[in-house]
Amino acid sequence: MISREVQLVAVPDGSVRAESFGVFETEVDAPGDQQVLVELRRLGLNAGLAHRLGGEGTAYGPGIGVGDVPSSDAVVEVLESAAEGFAPGDLAVAKVPWCTAAVVDADQLRRIDRATPEQDLEAYLTVLGHVGFTAYTGLIHIGEVRPEDIVCVSGAAGGVGSCVVQFAKARGASVIGVAGSAEKVALLTDVLGADRAINRHDGPAAELLRDASPDGIDLYYDNVGGEQLDAALEVLNARGRIVICGAVAAGSGGPSNYRRMIYQELSMRGFTVTAHEDLRAQFESEVGGWLREGAVRSLHTVFDGIDRVPEAFASLLAGGSSGRVIVAVDGPR
Ligand SMILES: NC(=O)c1ccc[n+]([C@@H]2O[C@H](COP(=O)([O-])OP(=O)(O)OC[C@H]3O[C@@H](n4cnc5c(N)ncnc54)[C@H](OP(=O)(O)O)[C@@H]3O)[C@@H](O)[C@H]2O)c1
Repeated sequence: MISREVQLVAVPDGSVRAESFGVFETEVDAPGDQQVLVELRRLGLNAGLAHRLGGEGTAYGPGIGVGDVPSSDAVVEVLESAAEGFAPGDLAVAKVPWCTAAVVDADQLRRIDRATPEQDLEAYLTVLGHVGFTAYTGLIHIGEVRPEDIVCVSGAAGGVGSCVVQFAKARGASVIGVAGSAEKVALLTDVLGADRAINRHDGPAAELLRDASPDGIDLYYDNVGGEQLDAALEVLNARGRIVICGAVAAGSGGPSNYRRMIYQELSMRGFTVTAHEDLRAQFESEVGGWLREGAVRSLHTVFDGIDRVPEAFASLLAGGSSGRVIVAVDGPR
């Protein structure tokens, strides 16, 4: 079978442009034992991949040279199966090369309920995907969010944060989101349903948080660390909880004012989402329900067709799209 794949054709000199990639035809073999041949339906793109173009690998994968085909997570449909438990027509999520069809080891596929409405396929790369599962695990299992909680989320307009905001609202809590621009602040309150939002560039973090939440906060979901974590420690109410999800801004040091944990009887707990697969069924059931009711939404921009992957990736890096950039590989259906 012929697949069309997206290769790096020139290492970008400065910013990544669509011309850095080309689309080529290639022959795909039949699946071997315990493998499946899949057709890509929706392909999710990640900005972090840009760091690997023409360079060294990162924690997320090897360096990508000229002639290589990048990979990312996608919703795929099984065309042919040589593996027990998969049949043509089955839908799954898998990390696959940027192409129209590929052979994948069956143990790399995570099945999707066949009853999923067509318009919800993108959600498996957003609210029902890795970032959604991370948000759910941290907020509901680690943070034990309650309807009476005032929740503060840093990195709130990002992949994980935008899910935390929506899930906390769906569980009945009040939510304050912290983000880095006026556009993101508007997105948080007008689209994602946050009660209040803070632009972290508007002043000292603790002052901004106190102004936004005169009654303090009960649960802080931290995606960034650094000054935002220090501010949350200042403002958390007695027996407040902190969920440590990410620490991009933390530098080498920890919080400067952790003694507040003693006086306020605070608790702080980190987690790694891959250790919580047992929550997957509960997550898909609850978030799937919210999605169907319209209580949460998948935030994404869709480009149609494999030929538009280079343009979609360049747009993602230029910041010209909102939410996750997803390519409907098979075009609109
Ligand atoms: N624990 C786990 O198992 C797990 C799983 C997945 C991801 N994570 C972590 O969770 C975090 C969020 O992931 P994501 O996919 O949502 O990333 P993302 O979409 O890139 O969002 C991260 C946000 O952090 C903010 N930020 C960046 N630099 C900052 C700085 N110096 N100070 C304050 N804020 C800063 C940015 O928002 P603004 O500029 O708008 O503030 C950015 O949107 C990451 O740290 C990631 O490594 C953890």
